[in-house]
Order: sequence, then C-alpha cells, then structure tokens
Amino acid sequence: MTAPSPRVALVLALTLLLATPAVGSATSAKRGLAWANGKWVPMDAFDTSNTSITSYYTWTPTPVSGAPFKFIPMLWGCDADHISEFQSALANNFSGADLTDDKVILGFNEPDIDSQSNCTPALAASVWQEYLEPLKKKGYRLGSPAVTAGQWGKAWLLEFYEECGGGCNPDFQAVHWYDMTVDNFKSVLVGYYDAFQLPMWVTEYAVQNFSDNQHGTDGNAQATQAQINSFMTTTLSWMDNQSWIERYFWFGAMYEMQGVNDYNCLFKLADNVSRTGALSALGKMYLDDPTGISYASGAASRLLLPVAAADLLPITAAIVVALLYSSL
Ligand SMILES: *[C@@H]1O[C@H](CO)[C@@H](O)[C@H](O)[C@H]1NC(C)=O
Ligand SMILES: *[C@@H]1O[C@H](CO)[C@@H](O)[C@H](O)[C@H]1NC(C)=O
Ligand SMILES: *[C@@H]1O[C@H](CO)[C@@H](O)[C@H](O)[C@H]1NC(C)=O
Ligand SMILES: *[C@@H]1O[C@H](CO)[C@@H](O)[C@H](O)[C@H]1NC(C)=O
Ligand SMILES: *[C@@H]1O[C@H](CO)[C@@H](O)[C@H](O)[C@H]1NC(C)=O
Repeated sequence: MTAPSPRVALVLALTLLLATPAVGSATSAKRGLAWANGKWVPMDAFDTSNTSITSYYTWTPTPVSGAPFKFIPMLWGCDADHISEFQSALANNFSGADLTDDKVILGFNEPDIDSQSNCTPALAASVWQEYLEPLKKKGYRLGSPAVTAGQWGKAWLLEFYEECGGGCNPDFQAVHWYDMTVDNFKSVLVGYYDAFQLPMWVTEYAVQNFSDNQHGTDGNAQATQAQINSFMTTTLSWMDNQSWIERYFWFGAMYEMQGVNDYNCLFKLADNVSRTGALSALGKMYLDDPTGISYASGAASRLLLPVAAADLLPITAAIVVALLYSSL
C-alpha cells in the first residue's frame, strides 16, 4: 500500500477527529435516578439517545415495570415487614428486573434518623448479618446503610461496625447529603471516604439549608435556581472525575420535593397535575443535555406542593432532618 498524499492524509486526519466524540459531551455512567414515582410518572424523558442515566432505585425492592434503566433493589429497614417484603422480592428475582452488572443491593435508608428506618446499630448489625451479608456469596454487591451526612451518620456507622464485629462488609459506602455549598459537599464526601475507605455512592443529594425554617420564601437562606444549576454543574463534573465515587442520585425526580427546595426538582413543576415527566432545565442538565439549560431563570415562580396521598413512600431524609435541625 502506498503512502497517501499529504492532502489525503489531512482529510483522513480531519475525518478521524470529527468521528471522535467530543470529550465534553461524554456521558457519565455514574448517574442514576432516585425514583419515588412508581409507574405513575413516565421515566421516558430521561431515556434519550445521549442520556447519562444508567440506573435507578425506588427505596424498595420493587422495580418499575418496563423501566429503561438498571434496577437497584433496597432493603429499606430493619423491621419484620421490610425484611419479609425484601425476602420475597429476592426469592422472586426482583420480578425479573434487569439489575446492574454487579448485582447491587442497597442497605437500610437513613437508619440514623428517627422517622426514617430508625435502626439501632445493634439491630442493624444483626439484620445485616442475617439477611444481607450472605448475599455476597451469591454474587450480589452490597451498599452500606445509607446514613445522613455529618456527625450523626458517622457515629451511627462506627457503632454499627463495632456491633458487627467484622461480620458486616458492605462493598461501598452510601451517603445522603443536603446542604448549601460545593465546598461542604466535597469535604463531607472526602471525610467519609477517609473514615471508611470504601468506594462511595451518594444516594440522595440536593441543595437545601435545613437550618433555615423559612423554607419556600425567596430571598432567604435557600438557594436560587441559578445557584442550584451551578451547584449541579460543578458537582457533576467533580464526581465524574473522582474514581472513588461510583454512582450518585440527585434529589429529586419527583413532584413532591418532601420539604427540599423545589428548585432542585428535575421535572417541570408546572406539570404537577398532569405529571407528564417532562424535565426542567435542571433535569435536562442531569441527563446531560447542556442545551436545555438557561441560567437566566432565577426569577422563575416558585411552587410549593402539598404532599399527595399517592406518595406514601419511605422517603426522605429531608423533612426529618429539617425537624431535627429546627428542634436544636
Ligand atoms: C441529546 O439528545 C436529545 C434528543 O434525544 C437532543 O435533543 C439533545 O440536543 C442531545 N444533547 C446533546 C448534548 O447532544
Ligand atoms: C431466580 O434466579 C435463579 C438463578 O438464575 C434461578 O435459579 C431461580 O429459579 C429464579 N427464581 C425465580 C422465582 O425466577
Ligand atoms: C442557612 O440558614 C440559616 C438560617 O436562616 C442562615 O443563618 C445560614 O446562613 C444559612 N446557611 C447558608 C450556607 O446559607
Ligand atoms: C480531575 O482530576 C485531575 C487529576 O486529579 C485534576 O487535575 C483535574 O483538575 C480534575 N478536573 C476536575 C474538573 O475536577
Ligand atoms: C401545582 O402547581 C400549581 C401552580 O402551578 C399549584 O397552584 C398547585 O397547588 C399544584 N398542585 C399540586 C397537586 O401539587
């Protein structure tokens, strides 16, 4: 074969360059949906050809039928009802849902919080050893109890490991974070990583000031839409760049934000009645479509949503943490 002429070589080089995906538009396999809507809201808007979403969890062992992403089951609590619900779902192979390749199962949801799963470290240690630890031998990979960021969570986990006496071996750390700044976000996650030396999943996070009891009023200590958009941009690229952070789940893909600043909503809140699942600008950013973003939306109207009876779901840290903070 003869060498191509310089002109042909140039054309070839340009063709190769153009055929190479731009680095900036690379999708992140780490991104997931914390999905509180069952089948009542379509997930379709997140399922575009270039989506970064790869997985979802439902705070339960029950998948959403027909969901386009990998399902991650959870054993939510340490009580008999949650255990038996989990055991039957497991025996039923989670209704045949497509699990992540490493077959991940998530542990207890906020066991360090009274009105969440509220497990003592001792009870959690015994339930873990009976129902979760043995799954490792069956090829499942386990997420630690998902504690709330900060001192309570850390103290709870330390006690949990002490009660376990070596018998609880999660494969990664799950943490929930709600606060205001990128610096706080990074330092909390790094702190958990330093303390427990496990890869990390951020299974809930959003920009919310729980020290501020005037939730819902613009101009107070809560973030604006522009600040939240900017927080998301910065933390997505930071997490995508940390090899020890494996997956993360923004809060939230839901119409009732459970006491968390509504500007964190990934859906268009104006659709709260028809519930089409259409995405807000923030939602488009999360699925990795920067073209959908407008930073000029700081004056957008703010909607306060009543919690619908249909959303009797075992979520979230938010209200509970708010109560705890406000009672301090
Ligand atoms: C992603 O795909 C959607 C359609 O599926 C398109 O509208 C959008 O422009 C794409 N975004 C990027 C960044 O390519
Ligand atoms: C679940 O999967 C296992 C392993 O593939 C299989 O042996 C078992 O029969 C399945 N159980 C049900 C209820 O589908
Ligand atoms: C959170 O709210 C409290 C009470 O309004 C306020 O004092 C504090 O500055 C706020 N924190 C941030 C980071 O904005
Ligand atoms: C990603 O990590 C590399 C190496 O640690 C660092 O040089 C770079 O600035 C980071 N980029 C971002 C966006 O954090
Ligand atoms: C939906 O949003 C509107 C404002 O656009 C609000 O008045 C209404 O209470 C909300 N409805 C529900 C069911 O959340």
